[in-house]
Amino acid sequence: MIDRQTIERILDAAQIVDVIQEFVPLKKRGVNYLGLCPFHNEKTPSFTVSPSKEIFKCFGCGKVGNSVNFIMEHEHLSYPEALKFLAGKYHIEVIEKELTPEELEKQNERESLLIVTSYAARQFTENLFQTDEGISVGLTYLKERGFRQTTLKKFEVGYCFEKRDAFSKTALDDGYKQDFLLKTGLSIQHEDHIFDRFSGRVMFPVHSLSGQVLGFGGRVLKSDAKTAKYVNSPESEIYHKSRILYGIYQARKAITQEDRCYLVEGYTDVMSLHEANIENVVASSGTSLTQEQVRLIKRFTPNITILYDGDPAGIKASIRGIDLVLEEGMNVRIVLLPDGEDPDSYSKKVSNEEFTKYLKEKETDFIRFKTQLLLEEANNDPVRKANLIRDIIKSIAVIPETITRTIYIKECSTVWEITEAVLYHEVNKLRQQRSFQDRNKYPGPEDLPLPPPVIPKPVKYEPVTHYSEREVIRLLLKFGSAEFDRKIRSEDGQEEVTTVSDYIVREIISDDLSFDDNVCARIFEDFRFFTEQGIFPGDKQFVKHEDPEISSLSADLLADSHELSRIWRDKQTFVETEDMKLKDIVPDAVLKFKSDKIQVRLKEIMIQLEAAVKAGDTEKILALQKRDQNLKVALRLISKKLGNRILL
Ligand code: CTP
Ligand code: MN
Repeated sequence: MIDRQTIERILDAAQIVDVIQEFVPLKKRGVNYLGLCPFHNEKTPSFTVSPSKEIFKCFGCGKVGNSVNFIMEHEHLSYPEALKFLAGKYHIEVIEKELTPEELEKQNERESLLIVTSYAARQFTENLFQTDEGISVGLTYLKERGFRQTTLKKFEVGYCFEKRDAFSKTALDDGYKQDFLLKTGLSIQHEDHIFDRFSGRVMFPVHSLSGQVLGFGGRVLKSDAKTAKYVNSPESEIYHKSRILYGIYQARKAITQEDRCYLVEGYTDVMSLHEANIENVVASSGTSLTQEQVRLIKRFTPNITILYDGDPAGIKASIRGIDLVLEEGMNVRIVLLPDGEDPDSYSKKVSNEEFTKYLKEKETDFIRFKTQLLLEEANNDPVRKANLIRDIIKSIAVIPETITRTIYIKECSTVWEITEAVLYHEVNKLRQQRSFQDRNKYPGPEDLPLPPPVIPKPVKYEPVTHYSEREVIRLLLKFGSAEFDRKIRSEDGQEEVTTVSDYIVREIISDDLSFDDNVCARIFEDFRFFTEQGIFPGDKQFVKHEDPEISSLSADLLADSHELSRIWRDKQTFVETEDMKLKDIVPDAVLKFKSDKIQVRLKEIMIQLEAAVKAGDTEKILALQKRDQNLKVALRLISKKLGNRILL
């Protein structure tokens, strides 16, 4: 534990611009700084740093925080780790709470083991690149398999000499304790002798997130060898197979940037994908995927694509992986390679472009994947078919998020031609059973099979513009940065993209209209400001807004219930389609907004007219009548445009 005083000293020292500039080039823009967001892919900068508020904020992806949050997020560190990182930068000595003797011993042991593994990794790479045996045996083998030197260096691939105790001897001579050599599994004791576990193998070090060497996989070179193809480090204080993903250290940046992680089976698959310019890839290293591994990926992205061999073992492993990923609330897609190929062999067989294209084209969601696969097995036998559907329903039932489940039910209904109602019923039945078994896992009302009946609240007076104002704000929040229109400018032939937010802001400002509702007005002001700056605020920014009225209205407008109620109301207008119909929905909402505004004005004019008539103010009467006529013309035009299209 770091003591309070030290934390304060670190926070005082850490100037946010200074901290972030080390990772992101920033340009001064007024009182703030602007740069390209490191947390999502963007071409126009929407990442702002405010030195006065000591915070950063990305209007694209919605990430906000202070300097410690930035380091945590960017370097994937825990809070104390991030503090220590900053302490290092500002040369502040960190005084940690005294550890108990046991804690100290454990920590010391961990550190000693890590020192030994990092020494071993160095030895092995030196062997591979700088010794005759390493070059002629190990390096030749790897080159024959087509690996480039830069890739081997990137993954710190090495070689362990053939002589049965070469490594252990050198290590002992260099002063490393036998105890630690045994505990890391690098050496094995047999009676009085100490041997190398990995002799004569090509070595693949397994790195932690921060690049420490935790263990090794060693591959034999000869294909006819009687020993196992791979030997791996045994479980130890530092190496827990189920919590590790091979390649995560080299992949972490790319996973965040691409917002997707490919999951393969083996060491060589990971390296080959890097050579095919796909760096967002990790391997479960032959073991079946674990929940801990899935959660490790989840720290970087919610999207996983499983890329396994097309053989029965690969298929089985994919199926096992699917539910695990779904259960974590993540999105899973599957790509099966042609039979007999693994990612390593196939990526080398075809060009990089063809490989990437294959991944894009063959990617399926789990429903289609399972359907395709199991349908062949079921062979039109109705009983087996029913089992198969049950299997798919089981997968849908583990998905924690309502919306996602709804989408998959829809998909399943299309693929299998079963009504959605039946599927809902089955899914909910399973979820209820599960929720009794595991209360903590699926808490909340969504476990109930049917939504509770809505009790109507007593209606209080609401201005007529209430709903149309909220609808405009909802569209801004939800689709503000989405493309509304795209055309070629005649002056210079450049393509011009109009976003939903551009369109709405322009329409409302050009008619000099404003919002009656104070909170809506404030949100609109933000959009107007950002749109003028060419920045797109994300919905998260409003949901996390420091003004509780803004955050709660935004959350309310973006909440699931809106979409769900619409699904229930009319199964044909499905959530998915709303963003496909922006060209209708958005102008309609704006027109409705305008027509409501006009009606309010007309009422005001009526009242003013009455007063003017009473006062006998002829000039005023004429002016008001003129205004009244103009507004009525406008209203007629709008009604015509709206036609009888149904408004949401
Ligand atoms: N594996 C293992 N022990 C084995 C076989 C495999 O630990 N005896 C693990 C390794 O991590 C290996 C992964 O399972 O990378 C996948 O196994 P496999 O497909 O057989 O090997 P490849 O990765 O294809 O290795 P290579 O291309 O070198 O044959
Ligand atoms: Mn292989």
